[in-house]
Amino acid sequence: MQDILQELENRREVARMGGGEQRIAAQHSKGKLTARERVEVLLDEGSFEEFDMFKTHRCTEFGMMEKQHPGDGVVTGWGTINGRMVYVYSQDFTVFGGSLSETHAEKICKVQEMAVRNGAPIIGISDSGGARIQEGVASLAGYAEVFQNNVMASGVVPQISLIMGPCAGGAVYSPAMTDFIFMVRDSSYMFVTGPDVVKTVTNEIVTAEELGGAKTHTSKSSVADKAFENDMELLMETRRLVDFLPLNNRQKPPVRPFFDDVARAETSLDSLVPENPNTPYDMKELIAKLADEGDFFEIQEDFAKNILTGFIRLEGSTVGVVANQPMVLAGCLDIDSSRKAARFVRFCDAFEIPILTLVDVPGFLPGTAQEYGGVIKHGAKLLFAYG
Ligand code: HXC
Repeated sequence: MQDILQELENRREVARMGGGEQRIAAQHSKGKLTARERVEVLLDEGSFEEFDMFKTHRCTEFGMMEKQHPGDGVVTGWGTINGRMVYVYSQDFTVFGGSLSETHAEKICKVQEMAVRNGAPIIGISDSGGARIQEGVASLAGYAEVFQNNVMASGVVPQISLIMGPCAGGAVYSPAMTDFIFMVRDSSYMFVTGPDVVKTVTNEIVTAEELGGAKTHTSKSSVADKAFENDMELLMETRRLVDFLPLNNRQKPPVRPFFDDVARAETSLDSLVPENPNTPYDMKELIAKLADEGDFFEIQEDFAKNILTGFIRLEGSTVGVVANQPMVLAGCLDIDSSRKAARFVRFCDAFEIPILTLVDVPGFLPGTAQEYGGVIKHGAKLLFAYG
């Protein structure tokens, strides 16, 4: 019996090493944590229960049978964040560049399905070269299954995507169908076609960072909701986001102890909002004054700054805030702010999170750019979401 247990522990040790010491060192040298280290930081200490640690690929082409890594490039399982259950998968760049094989996809699908069945959020960590080239269409079929599960989980459990390395090609569409995308500055990127293809097809010369880095996606494309300096900061802020959210669409968000006096009168509001409606003021200050302990978890803070979206707590309960920002474009609504707020309102609606709307808006932004850009339909998204 002792031999068997020892053998099991040996095999676990091999699996924990992923692609080996050298590749782990290479990962660290880029300022990145490994797939397992990320899971450890994200979850409560000692809470992680791993699934399918010894699963390997089934590819027989290109000498792949000789290249087997237990776990097949993705760490999956469940654990807790401040005592509340979440499912996770974390792609391991040290194993075949974190690329997605048929079995790698099966592991992801399993935790997605368990998350929906058991009513707990799913957090996916992307660090991958995309479809495993050696497997061809088998790998692509795996993506199809992951995407379908994203759709089935949508509005049932919160889905959070953490982009912590490459995420390219069709692989981007799984995060795109989830509720929130966070990125790490300078070490993560997302694009459908990379800089080389862009150059060949359109003659544009652009770096990976310019094309699909965190700055681009948080300020230009609005694909990502937040960007962070490093892996640690991103993972800690993800824990903070999870604390605001319900586990699924049948449960309320957690009510936290609060230290804010419910009878507090905020006299500074008398002067914060100016008497002259043409004088701008910072709506963020107002939100911070309303929130328990001034805690505002802002979503998409670098995009469409004329509207603010994010979570606060009032008397310990989560509230979604949508607020015009008079400091930017006088708080006018336009295409981008409508899209941004509509998506946030729809998320709150799906998970029955009450919405506090702070209105100070002169109306929709006039102009041909807005009309030609379809402000009628984009504006309608916000109306529809509220309706
Ligand atoms: C198999 C892969 C791989 C992949 C990387 N590797 N991507 N193996 N399939 N997709 C392997 C490399 O061969 C290498 O192994 C190891 O992972 C590390 O990769 P490097 O290239 O050394 O790392 P780096 O220089 O950091 O470059 C990372 C990278 C690059 C930019 C991601 O590896 C790359 O361009 N990979 C291919 C990307 C790609 O074309 N993917 C398919 C996209 S299409 P060795 O053993 O040599 O060290 C797609 C379709 C999805 O995803 C469609 C869904 C509908």
